[in-house]
Amino acid sequence: MRSLIDIVDFSVEELDELMKTACDISENPEKYSKKCVGKKLATLFFEPSTRTRLSFEAAMYELGGNVIGFSDAGNSSASKGESVADTAKVISCYADIIAMRHPKAGAPYVAAENATIPVINAGDGDHCHPTQTLADLLTIYREKGRLSNLTVGFCGDLKYGRTVHSLIAALSRYEGVRIVLISPDELKIPEFVKHDILDKNQMTYIEKNCLEQEIPNLDILYMTRVQRERFDDLDEYEKLKNSYILNTQKMSLAKPDMCVLHPLPRVNEINVSVDNDPRACYFKQVQNGKYMRMALILKLLEDEKREIKHTHKNDVVINEIYCTNPRCITSCEQELEHKYKLVDKQNGIYSCVYCEKTAKMKEEN
Ligand code: NCD
Repeated sequence: MRSLIDIVDFSVEELDELMKTACDISENPEKYSKKCVGKKLATLFFEPSTRTRLSFEAAMYELGGNVIGFSDAGNSSASKGESVADTAKVISCYADIIAMRHPKAGAPYVAAENATIPVINAGDGDHCHPTQTLADLLTIYREKGRLSNLTVGFCGDLKYGRTVHSLIAALSRYEGVRIVLISPDELKIPEFVKHDILDKNQMTYIEKNCLEQEIPNLDILYMTRVQRERFDDLDEYEKLKNSYILNTQKMSLAKPDMCVLHPLPRVNEINVSVDNDPRACYFKQVQNGKYMRMALILKLLEDEKREIKHTHKNDVVINEIYCTNPRCITSCEQELEHKYKLVDKQNGIYSCVYCEKTAKMKEEN
Protein backbone atom coordinates (compact mmCIF):
# COMPACT_ATOMS: atom_id res chain seq x y z
CA MET A 1 0.00 0.00 0.00
CA ARG A 2 1.32 3.42 -0.89
CA SER A 3 0.60 6.34 1.46
CA LEU A 4 1.88 9.90 1.84
CA ILE A 5 2.69 10.50 5.52
CA ASP A 6 5.92 12.44 5.21
CA ILE A 7 7.04 14.37 2.12
CA VAL A 8 10.24 12.30 1.99
CA ASP A 9 8.13 9.20 1.34
CA PHE A 10 8.34 10.39 -2.29
CA SER A 11 11.52 10.57 -4.34
CA VAL A 12 12.50 13.70 -6.29
CA GLU A 13 11.50 11.86 -9.48
CA GLU A 14 8.06 11.17 -8.04
CA LEU A 15 7.65 14.82 -7.03
CA ASP A 16 8.63 15.84 -10.57
CA GLU A 17 6.13 13.39 -11.98
CA LEU A 18 3.37 14.78 -9.71
CA MET A 19 4.16 18.34 -10.80
CA LYS A 20 4.04 17.29 -14.45
CA THR A 21 0.65 15.65 -13.95
CA ALA A 22 -0.65 18.69 -12.02
CA CYS A 23 0.39 21.02 -14.87
CA ASP A 24 -1.31 18.75 -17.40
CA ILE A 25 -4.48 18.69 -15.25
CA SER A 26 -4.51 22.50 -15.15
CA GLU A 27 -4.26 22.66 -18.96
CA ASN A 28 -6.52 19.72 -19.84
CA PRO A 29 -9.01 19.26 -16.97
CA GLU A 30 -11.52 17.34 -19.14
CA LYS A 31 -8.92 14.58 -19.76
CA TYR A 32 -9.06 13.78 -16.04
CA SER A 33 -12.73 14.32 -15.30
CA LYS A 34 -13.65 10.62 -15.27
CA LYS A 35 -10.46 9.09 -13.87
CA CYS A 36 -11.94 8.34 -10.45
CA VAL A 37 -15.52 7.43 -11.34
CA GLY A 38 -16.75 4.90 -8.76
CA LYS A 39 -14.00 5.76 -6.25
CA LYS A 40 -14.50 7.30 -2.83
CA LEU A 41 -12.25 9.61 -0.84
CA ALA A 42 -12.81 9.69 2.93
CA THR A 43 -11.86 13.01 4.52
CA LEU A 44 -11.27 12.39 8.23
CA PHE A 45 -10.68 15.82 9.74
CA PHE A 46 -10.22 15.74 13.51
CA GLU A 47 -9.05 19.37 13.43
CA PRO A 48 -10.51 22.49 11.75
CA SER A 49 -9.63 23.18 8.13
CA THR A 50 -11.11 25.14 5.28
CA ARG A 51 -8.86 24.95 2.29
CA THR A 52 -7.17 21.61 2.80
CA ARG A 53 -10.43 19.72 3.26
CA LEU A 54 -12.33 21.57 0.54
CA SER A 55 -9.35 21.32 -1.76
CA PHE A 56 -9.29 17.52 -1.31
CA GLU A 57 -13.04 17.39 -1.88
CA ALA A 58 -12.87 19.59 -4.98
CA ALA A 59 -9.94 17.50 -6.26
CA MET A 60 -11.88 14.23 -5.93
CA TYR A 61 -15.06 15.67 -7.50
CA GLU A 62 -13.05 17.04 -10.43
CA LEU A 63 -11.67 13.53 -10.99
CA GLY A 64 -15.25 12.21 -11.15
CA GLY A 65 -15.12 10.53 -7.74
CA ASN A 66 -17.16 10.89 -4.55
CA VAL A 67 -16.36 12.05 -1.05
CA ILE A 68 -17.48 10.88 2.40
CA GLY A 69 -16.20 11.98 5.80
CA PHE A 70 -16.42 14.41 8.69
CA SER A 71 -14.95 17.79 9.42
CA ASP A 72 -15.11 17.78 13.19
CA ALA A 73 -13.90 15.11 15.63
CA GLY A 74 -17.09 15.70 17.64
CA ASN A 75 -19.05 14.16 14.75
CA SER A 76 -16.96 10.99 14.66
CA SER A 77 -16.63 7.94 16.92
CA ALA A 78 -13.41 9.45 18.26
CA SER A 79 -15.69 11.31 20.65
CA LYS A 80 -16.77 7.86 21.95
CA GLY A 81 -13.15 6.86 22.43
CA GLU A 82 -12.45 5.00 19.17
CA SER A 83 -8.76 4.66 18.36
CA VAL A 84 -7.20 5.98 15.16
CA ALA A 85 -6.24 2.38 14.28
CA ASP A 86 -9.86 1.17 14.51
CA THR A 87 -11.16 4.20 12.60
CA ALA A 88 -8.67 3.43 9.80
CA LYS A 89 -9.72 -0.24 9.64
CA VAL A 90 -13.41 0.69 9.52
CA ILE A 91 -13.03 3.40 6.86
CA SER A 92 -11.01 0.96 4.72
CA CYS A 93 -14.28 -0.96 4.27
CA TYR A 94 -16.11 2.12 2.95
CA ALA A 95 -13.65 4.12 0.88
CA ASP A 96 -10.72 3.78 -1.55
CA ILE A 97 -8.42 6.43 -0.10
CA ILE A 98 -8.21 8.47 3.13
CA ALA A 99 -7.12 12.06 3.76
CA MET A 100 -6.61 12.56 7.51
CA ARG A 101 -5.96 15.67 9.60
CA HIS A 102 -5.37 15.22 13.32
CA PRO A 103 -4.20 17.43 16.21
CA LYS A 104 -1.66 14.81 17.38
CA ALA A 105 1.62 14.14 15.59
CA GLY A 106 1.80 10.67 14.05
CA ALA A 107 -1.96 9.95 13.87
CA PRO A 108 -1.91 9.53 10.04
CA TYR A 109 1.11 7.22 10.45
CA VAL A 110 -0.95 5.02 12.77
CA ALA A 111 -3.83 5.14 10.27
CA ALA A 112 -1.52 4.07 7.42
CA GLU A 113 -0.22 1.14 9.46
CA ASN A 114 -3.77 -0.11 10.00
CA ALA A 115 -5.67 0.82 6.85
CA THR A 116 -5.89 -1.40 3.79
CA ILE A 117 -6.21 1.67 1.53
CA PRO A 118 -3.78 4.58 0.94
CA VAL A 119 -3.66 7.28 3.63
CA ILE A 120 -2.73 10.91 3.01
CA ASN A 121 -1.48 13.05 5.89
CA ALA A 122 -3.46 16.29 5.62
CA GLY A 123 -1.63 17.82 8.61
CA ASP A 124 -0.71 16.18 11.94
CA GLY A 125 -0.44 18.56 14.89
CA ASP A 126 2.69 20.67 14.86
CA HIS A 127 4.57 18.00 12.92
CA CYS A 128 4.14 17.86 9.10
CA HIS A 129 1.86 18.84 6.26
CA PRO A 130 3.12 17.14 3.09
CA THR A 131 0.24 18.06 0.76
CA GLN A 132 0.71 21.77 1.50
CA THR A 133 4.32 21.17 0.48
CA LEU A 134 3.13 19.77 -2.84
CA ALA A 135 1.27 23.05 -3.43
CA ASP A 136 4.33 25.05 -2.35
CA LEU A 137 6.72 23.14 -4.62
CA LEU A 138 4.53 23.53 -7.68
CA THR A 139 4.13 27.25 -7.00
CA ILE A 140 7.88 27.78 -6.61
CA TYR A 141 8.53 25.73 -9.74
CA ARG A 142 5.97 27.62 -11.80
CA GLU A 143 7.15 31.04 -10.58
CA LYS A 144 10.92 30.50 -10.62
CA GLY A 145 11.31 27.68 -13.18
CA ARG A 146 13.44 25.65 -10.74
CA LEU A 147 13.58 24.21 -7.23
CA SER A 148 17.37 24.35 -6.91
CA ASN A 149 19.74 27.28 -6.33
CA LEU A 150 17.28 29.38 -4.38
CA THR A 151 17.48 31.38 -1.17
CA VAL A 152 14.30 30.60 0.73
CA GLY A 153 13.30 32.63 3.79
CA PHE A 154 10.80 31.25 6.33
CA CYS A 155 9.29 33.89 8.59
CA GLY A 156 7.04 33.70 11.66
CA ASP A 157 6.10 30.65 13.70
CA LEU A 158 8.75 28.14 12.71
CA LYS A 159 8.22 26.10 15.88
CA TYR A 160 4.59 25.05 15.43
CA GLY A 161 4.25 25.75 11.67
CA ARG A 162 4.04 22.22 10.25
CA THR A 163 4.04 23.46 6.64
CA VAL A 164 7.51 24.92 7.25
CA HIS A 165 8.86 21.59 8.53
CA SER A 166 7.63 19.68 5.48
CA LEU A 167 8.78 22.27 2.93
CA ILE A 168 12.30 22.34 4.42
CA ALA A 169 12.37 18.53 4.23
CA ALA A 170 11.37 18.67 0.55
CA LEU A 171 13.90 21.40 -0.28
CA SER A 172 16.69 19.34 1.33
CA ARG A 173 16.48 17.15 -1.78
CA TYR A 174 17.47 19.95 -4.18
CA GLU A 175 20.93 21.39 -4.90
CA GLY A 176 22.07 24.82 -3.79
CA VAL A 177 19.09 25.74 -1.58
CA ARG A 178 19.97 28.25 1.17
CA ILE A 179 17.52 28.52 4.06
CA VAL A 180 17.01 31.72 6.08
CA LEU A 181 15.00 31.12 9.27
CA ILE A 182 13.43 34.33 10.60
CA SER A 183 11.56 34.05 13.90
CA PRO A 184 11.45 35.32 17.47
CA ASP A 185 13.63 33.22 19.78
CA GLU A 186 10.50 31.61 21.28
CA LEU A 187 9.36 30.29 17.88
CA LYS A 188 12.58 28.89 16.45
CA ILE A 189 12.65 25.79 14.25
CA PRO A 190 12.35 22.58 16.35
CA GLU A 191 15.22 20.23 17.01
CA PHE A 192 13.90 17.41 14.79
CA VAL A 193 14.04 19.68 11.74
CA LYS A 194 17.47 21.03 12.69
CA HIS A 195 19.05 17.71 13.51
CA ASP A 196 17.31 15.30 11.12
CA ILE A 197 16.88 17.56 8.10
CA LEU A 198 19.07 20.67 8.05
CA ASP A 199 22.20 19.24 9.69
CA LYS A 200 21.86 15.72 8.37
CA ASN A 201 21.65 16.96 4.77
CA GLN A 202 24.34 19.58 5.36
CA MET A 203 22.01 22.33 4.22
CA THR A 204 23.15 25.94 4.34
CA TYR A 205 21.00 27.81 6.87
CA ILE A 206 21.02 30.79 9.21
CA GLU A 207 18.70 31.78 12.07
CA LYS A 208 17.79 35.48 12.34
CA ASN A 209 15.25 37.76 14.03
CA CYS A 210 14.92 40.66 11.62
CA LEU A 211 12.83 40.39 8.43
CA GLU A 212 13.90 43.80 7.04
CA GLN A 213 17.53 42.80 7.19
CA GLU A 214 17.07 39.48 5.40
CA ILE A 215 14.39 40.28 2.83
CA PRO A 216 16.78 41.80 0.22
CA ASN A 217 18.59 38.43 -0.11
CA LEU A 218 15.56 36.22 -0.66
CA ASP A 219 14.21 34.56 -3.82
CA ILE A 220 11.23 33.16 -1.90
CA LEU A 221 9.66 34.53 1.28
CA TYR A 222 7.42 31.99 3.05
CA MET A 223 5.31 33.84 5.63
CA THR A 224 3.43 31.95 8.34
CA ARG A 225 0.73 32.60 10.91
CA VAL A 226 1.55 32.39 14.62
CA GLN A 227 -0.28 29.13 15.49
CA ARG A 228 -2.54 30.29 18.33
CA GLU A 229 -4.10 26.85 18.88
CA ARG A 230 -0.75 25.26 19.74
CA PHE A 231 0.12 27.61 22.62
CA ASP A 232 -0.31 26.32 26.18
CA ASP A 233 -0.07 29.92 27.43
CA LEU A 234 -2.23 32.43 25.53
CA ASP A 235 -0.36 35.40 27.07
CA GLU A 236 2.70 34.11 25.25
CA TYR A 237 0.69 34.06 22.01
CA GLU A 238 -0.46 37.66 22.61
CA LYS A 239 3.14 38.68 23.10
CA LEU A 240 4.30 37.06 19.86
CA LYS A 241 1.34 37.39 17.48
CA ASN A 242 2.50 40.64 15.87
CA SER A 243 6.16 39.68 15.55
CA TYR A 244 6.23 40.11 11.77
CA ILE A 245 3.91 42.01 9.48
CA LEU A 246 4.81 42.11 5.80
CA ASN A 247 3.75 45.41 4.21
CA THR A 248 4.48 47.39 1.05
CA GLN A 249 7.35 49.22 2.71
CA LYS A 250 9.13 45.92 3.49
CA MET A 251 8.29 44.63 0.00
CA SER A 252 10.14 47.64 -1.42
CA LEU A 253 13.36 46.21 0.06
CA ALA A 254 12.91 42.87 -1.73
CA LYS A 255 14.20 41.69 -5.12
CA PRO A 256 11.90 42.61 -8.02
CA ASP A 257 11.25 38.91 -8.67
CA MET A 258 11.02 37.66 -5.08
CA CYS A 259 8.00 35.46 -4.62
CA VAL A 260 5.82 35.65 -1.45
CA LEU A 261 4.15 32.43 -0.31
CA HIS A 262 1.83 31.72 2.62
CA PRO A 263 -0.04 28.46 3.30
CA LEU A 264 -3.06 30.50 4.52
CA PRO A 265 -5.13 31.23 6.55
CA ARG A 266 -3.58 34.65 7.03
CA VAL A 267 -4.30 36.59 10.20
CA ASN A 268 -2.37 39.86 9.99
CA GLU A 269 1.14 38.77 9.04
CA ILE A 270 0.69 39.96 5.45
CA ASN A 271 -0.99 43.32 5.08
CA VAL A 272 -3.77 43.16 2.45
CA SER A 273 -2.03 45.98 0.56
CA VAL A 274 0.60 43.39 -0.49
CA ASP A 275 -2.06 41.33 -2.30
CA ASN A 276 -1.88 43.60 -5.36
CA ASP A 277 1.88 43.19 -5.68
CA PRO A 278 2.62 40.79 -8.59
CA ARG A 279 5.13 39.05 -6.29
CA ALA A 280 2.29 37.90 -3.98
CA CYS A 281 1.70 34.27 -4.98
CA TYR A 282 -0.39 32.91 -2.11
CA PHE A 283 -3.66 32.70 -3.98
CA LYS A 284 -1.95 30.95 -6.90
CA GLN A 285 -0.64 28.52 -4.27
CA VAL A 286 -4.23 27.62 -3.34
CA GLN A 287 -5.06 26.83 -6.98
CA ASN A 288 -1.88 24.79 -7.37
CA GLY A 289 -2.80 22.87 -4.21
CA LYS A 290 -5.94 21.52 -5.82
CA TYR A 291 -4.08 20.35 -8.95
CA MET A 292 -1.38 18.68 -6.88
CA ARG A 293 -3.98 16.91 -4.71
CA MET A 294 -5.67 15.64 -7.88
CA ALA A 295 -2.32 14.34 -9.14
CA LEU A 296 -1.64 12.78 -5.73
CA ILE A 297 -4.99 10.96 -5.52
CA LEU A 298 -4.42 9.56 -9.03
CA LYS A 299 -0.90 8.44 -8.17
CA LEU A 300 -1.81 6.73 -4.90
CA LEU A 301 -4.74 4.90 -6.44
CA GLU A 302 -2.49 3.74 -9.29
CA ASP A 303 0.42 2.84 -6.98
CA GLU A 304 -1.77 0.77 -4.69
CA LYS A 305 0.18 -2.40 -5.27
CA ARG A 306 3.58 -0.96 -4.42
CA GLU A 307 4.99 -1.37 -0.97
CA ILE A 308 6.20 1.58 1.10
CA LYS A 309 8.19 1.07 4.24
CA HIS A 310 8.14 3.95 6.71
CA THR A 311 10.93 2.49 8.78
CA HIS A 312 13.53 -0.23 8.52
CA LYS A 313 12.36 -2.87 10.97
CA ASN A 314 15.90 -3.73 12.14
CA ASP A 315 16.53 -0.22 13.34
CA VAL A 316 13.26 0.09 15.27
CA VAL A 317 12.97 -0.60 19.00
CA ILE A 318 9.55 -1.29 20.48
CA ASN A 319 8.57 -0.24 24.00
CA GLU A 320 12.20 0.31 24.98
CA ILE A 321 12.03 4.09 24.86
CA TYR A 322 8.80 5.85 25.85
CA CYS A 323 7.80 9.05 24.09
CA THR A 324 7.03 11.86 26.54
CA ASN A 325 5.90 14.43 23.96
CA PRO A 326 2.37 15.56 24.97
CA ARG A 327 1.70 16.43 21.30
CA CYS A 328 2.43 12.88 20.09
CA ILE A 329 -0.39 10.42 19.31
CA THR A 330 1.14 8.06 21.93
CA SER A 331 0.17 10.58 24.62
CA CYS A 332 -3.55 9.94 24.12
CA GLU A 333 -3.72 6.37 22.74
CA GLN A 334 -2.56 4.10 25.56
CA GLU A 335 -2.67 0.91 23.47
CA LEU A 336 -0.08 2.09 20.96
CA GLU A 337 3.38 0.58 21.00
CA HIS A 338 6.12 3.17 21.53
CA LYS A 339 8.40 2.80 18.53
CA TYR A 340 11.74 4.50 18.05
CA LYS A 341 13.99 4.28 15.01
CA LEU A 342 17.76 4.69 15.11
CA VAL A 343 18.66 7.96 13.37
CA ASP A 344 22.22 8.56 14.52
CA LYS A 345 24.18 5.35 15.09
CA GLN A 346 27.35 7.12 16.22
CA ASN A 347 25.65 8.99 19.05
CA GLY A 348 22.97 6.34 19.73
CA ILE A 349 20.11 8.74 18.99
CA TYR A 350 16.64 7.39 18.28
CA SER A 351 13.59 9.24 17.01
CA CYS A 352 9.90 8.50 17.73
CA VAL A 353 8.35 7.11 14.52
CA TYR A 354 5.18 9.13 15.19
CA CYS A 355 6.36 12.61 16.24
CA GLU A 356 10.14 12.46 15.56
CA LYS A 357 11.06 13.59 19.08
CA THR A 358 14.59 12.31 19.66
CA ALA A 359 15.90 10.35 22.64
CA LYS A 360 18.81 8.19 23.73
CA MET A 361 18.55 4.65 25.05
CA LYS A 362 17.90 4.64 28.81
CA GLU A 363 21.27 3.23 29.92
CA GLU A 364 23.00 5.95 27.91
CA ASN A 365 21.04 8.80 29.55
C1 NCD B 1 -1.84 25.43 7.31
C2 NCD B 1 -2.04 24.30 8.31
O1 NCD B 1 -3.14 23.82 8.49
O2 NCD B 1 -1.03 23.89 8.87
N1 NCD B 1 -2.99 25.67 6.56
C3 NCD B 1 -3.24 24.93 5.45
O3 NCD B 1 -3.37 23.75 5.48
N2 NCD B 1 -3.27 25.57 4.30
C4 NCD B 1 -1.27 26.64 7.92
C5 NCD B 1 -1.94 27.26 9.10
O4 NCD B 1 -2.95 26.77 9.61
O5 NCD B 1 -1.43 28.27 9.55
